[in-house]
Amino acid sequence: MTNSSIGCVVLIGAGNLALHLGQALVQQGIRVVEVYNRSAAKGEELAGRVGADFIPEISKITTQADLYIMAVADAAIMPIAESLQLGDRLLVHTSGTMDMMLLSKASVQVGVFYPLQTFPAGRPTGFSGVPVCLESNSAEGKFRLEEVARKLTDMVYFVDSDQRKLLHLSAVFACNFTNFMYTVAEDLLTSNSMPFELLKPLIAHTAENAVRGDVFRHQTGPAVRGDQPVLDIHRSLLAGHPEYLEIYNAISNNIIQYKTNHGKL
Ligand SMILES: NC(=O)c1ccc[n+]([C@@H]2O[C@H](COP(=O)([O-])OP(=O)(O)OC[C@H]3O[C@@H](n4cnc5c(N)ncnc54)[C@H](OP(=O)(O)O)[C@@H]3O)[C@@H](O)[C@H]2O)c1
Repeated sequence: MTNSSIGCVVLIGAGNLALHLGQALVQQGIRVVEVYNRSAAKGEELAGRVGADFIPEISKITTQADLYIMAVADAAIMPIAESLQLGDRLLVHTSGTMDMMLLSKASVQVGVFYPLQTFPAGRPTGFSGVPVCLESNSAEGKFRLEEVARKLTDMVYFVDSDQRKLLHLSAVFACNFTNFMYTVAEDLLTSNSMPFELLKPLIAHTAENAVRGDVFRHQTGPAVRGDQPVLDIHRSLLAGHPEYLEIYNAISNNIIQYKTNHGKL
């Protein structure tokens, strides 16, 4: 059984990840035969882009595909799985947090296909160089998922559900929170008539430093210096933004605490 390949896929969901993943699969010669989505407009659009049929009712999807990829909001995974009967067809979800076995009511062969990248709306994002974290409850499932993943990227890992939750949590800090910090910085600048462009070299350089590793060694700023007068000036500048002041204080205190716990830079 382990020499089987994935020729055709059904996509369940038509959001950001389904769009990027569906297009990447088609580019690698894997057919997307059907798309199901709760709202027809997005489902039809994705189906059109990948050359698939749009199926408006989940109970009507084919039971003959090689792989079913459920790329939907985490809360929708279980209810959709409960309305599927796929026998032993390989069914995966794409969540960083949800347990693989949520899918077990739909199929005996389940798994996870979790790309560790951000796929925002409106910006083409390829899979080359993207880590894809896999899990399956069967050896055949693992083999087949790895086969698909390796068509998209060289960075393929097997990660169990507990590890994946922690991976996702670390990604929230590294990506989602960092991006929100950019949002705060942009707001502070533009509401004081300065362009966000001013910060772009700093953002790029900070990311370049971070990917070199030993990250805290690159920490700069008033908190790590213990520069109390500057911390106080920044706090007074944020008097009109209590929500940003809360973030400023929490992160500054964490930096000071981290330095205390881990010694000098
Ligand atoms: N985007 C990323 O960067 C990324 C990266 C790695 C993993 N993931 C994972 O991929 C999954 C999808 O994420 P996404 O970013 O593609 O989300 P998204 O763009 O917000 O799309 C959500 C999808 O879930 C469907 N959905 C939401 N609530 C539903 C419900 N109650 N019943 C049925 N369908 C429902 C939506 O259908 P409608 O169109 O009808 O609303 C849509 O197809 C999530 O598990 C996410 O953690 C995402």
